Amino acid sequence: MSTNINEDNLPNLLELEKLANQFFKSAPGEDIDQFAQTEPLKEFNPVADYAGGIPGADGLPIALFGTHPQPPSLSGVGASPSAINQGNVINLKEPQTSFEDPALQSSNSSNNNKLPASPFSGSGLSPYNLNEIPYLQDRSFEKELQDTLNKINAAPAIPQLPFGVGQYAGDPSYYFLKPVPSQFSAARSTGASGIINPPFDVNIIRQDFPILKERVNGKQLIWLDNAATTQKPRQVIDRISYFYEHENSNIHRAAHELAARATDAYEGARKKVQNFLNAASVKEIVFVRGATEAINLVAKSWGEQNLQAGDEIIVSHLEHHANIVPWQQLAAKKNLKIRVIPVDDDGQLIIEEYTKLLNHKTKLVSFTQVSNALGTVTPAEQIVRLGHLAGAKVLVDGAQSVSHMPVDVQALNADWFVFSGHKVFAPTGIGVLYGKEDLLNETQPWQGGGNMIVDVTFEHTQYHDAPSRFEAGTGNIADAVGLGAAIDYVTQIGMPNIALYEHYLLIYATQLLKEVPGLRLIGTAANKASVLSFVLEGYKTEEVGHELNKQGIAVRSGHHCAQPILRRFGLESTVRPSLAFYNTCAEIDLLAETLHRLKK
Ligand code: ALA
Repeated sequence: MSTNINEDNLPNLLELEKLANQFFKSAPGEDIDQFAQTEPLKEFNPVADYAGGIPGADGLPIALFGTHPQPPSLSGVGASPSAINQGNVINLKEPQTSFEDPALQSSNSSNNNKLPASPFSGSGLSPYNLNEIPYLQDRSFEKELQDTLNKINAAPAIPQLPFGVGQYAGDPSYYFLKPVPSQFSAARSTGASGIINPPFDVNIIRQDFPILKERVNGKQLIWLDNAATTQKPRQVIDRISYFYEHENSNIHRAAHELAARATDAYEGARKKVQNFLNAASVKEIVFVRGATEAINLVAKSWGEQNLQAGDEIIVSHLEHHANIVPWQQLAAKKNLKIRVIPVDDDGQLIIEEYTKLLNHKTKLVSFTQVSNALGTVTPAEQIVRLGHLAGAKVLVDGAQSVSHMPVDVQALNADWFVFSGHKVFAPTGIGVLYGKEDLLNETQPWQGGGNMIVDVTFEHTQYHDAPSRFEAGTGNIADAVGLGAAIDYVTQIGMPNIALYEHYLLIYATQLLKEVPGLRLIGTAANKASVLSFVLEGYKTEEVGHELNKQGIAVRSGHHCAQPILRRFGLESTVRPSLAFYNTCAEIDLLAETLHRLKK
């Protein structure tokens, strides 16, 4: 068996997914009921249970993956149900997932598994004594994956940002750090992928996030509410402090040194966003408050000007309220029709149904790239292409995608793309509207004021071209600069590395949650990103959230500002753990263990 490596020295994800499935299939299984009877879960003790882990800054070890003494089995039970073969039948005893795995049969495997398997073991950081683990040597998958990760890690390091990834990890030489405190130049990269990244090491990365050392209810915080907001690395926090200590001024307007520094920092951040999204021009990047404001901007400028009574807007059943309400408001005002792309029982959009909705009246398609409630990754390029074929404009909501996968707006070819900074490790109150340059310049501004004008008389105002025409008044300058720092941070880690790591974390978490009796996963699409929505038989979602909180585990429980899609599954709320690249398999273990304990 060999693992394909792409030209850009990154693994072929499909191939790795197959390997992961093969691995999970080959991991010996254990009947969960039997496990529950014979091996009651112990009270989690972070010190004892993390024994042998990597010491964190607070003295407690941080483990990369599974550490509890007798965790639930990892044996594969996914049977790849499609909407067709699953129908509407949900079996609480054997929840299904659609990770591609046609060979897997059921959880009643004759094999027994004594330890959780991590696709990331063998890194030299394992809390296990590898010699003591039976059958580990047989796990050819692990070796394959480790070889692949080694190849990623073997990429040469680049000179680091002054506040680069891992600077606070205590071993700067590991990342070839060379701090240059007075400069904040972006790390630029070379190579086929355009990016050369330092090695991915979750234990070192975690130390960049001060809040991850926080204790909640006497336990170390486990932040699994990343779909609601992400935590901020020290590099972002320090960058904002630096701005207020050395650069703070209004921008574009004054003839003094600090105005120049602030303007450079703000426009520098815009350039970073352009590179991050691979936009054709910096003029296509408009700073806004967040994804919600960006969608409202399009509705209240382009939509107000261009849509007529009888026109149709297509959204998907997956949308969160920010991509429903602004269109509803516009539809009510202008007598437009809203049509909805349905989803199948796994939570994936039904493209055939989408094509039936498209017609000459369709003027806009607005949909999410990743569902915040289910984690579904939609076939965005295909949806955009079909929308354009019908003559519609297309908006892609990237609020839940940009932190999990590389995004290329030119390849996507959407007319607009929106995201919020706070979901990609940047501050709240800053976000981005990307729009094609000509389209932005054809669109009248939605807010008037300073900064967006070329000339004002009492009779007439001449507007700037984009992006300034949409940035009336004094914007959130410091947090835009913070967003630039967050983009530098994830770029240094490498979005492909982040996507790969989170993909395996999601597979690992899915397997463990499926072993919890009575747990029903909501959202089982084959292509998912970093969200595990579920309900637990016999418990209200807020009760589950409360119990997890007692263990220091933060998840969102509720409707996730996406009521229509939960109602599609007959629910008003779910429990929603959501992952980021700083999460570990050990944290997933504790989540699963707490749920098992609840069920007992
Ligand atoms: N849309 C955010 C979430 O999914 C607030 O939690």
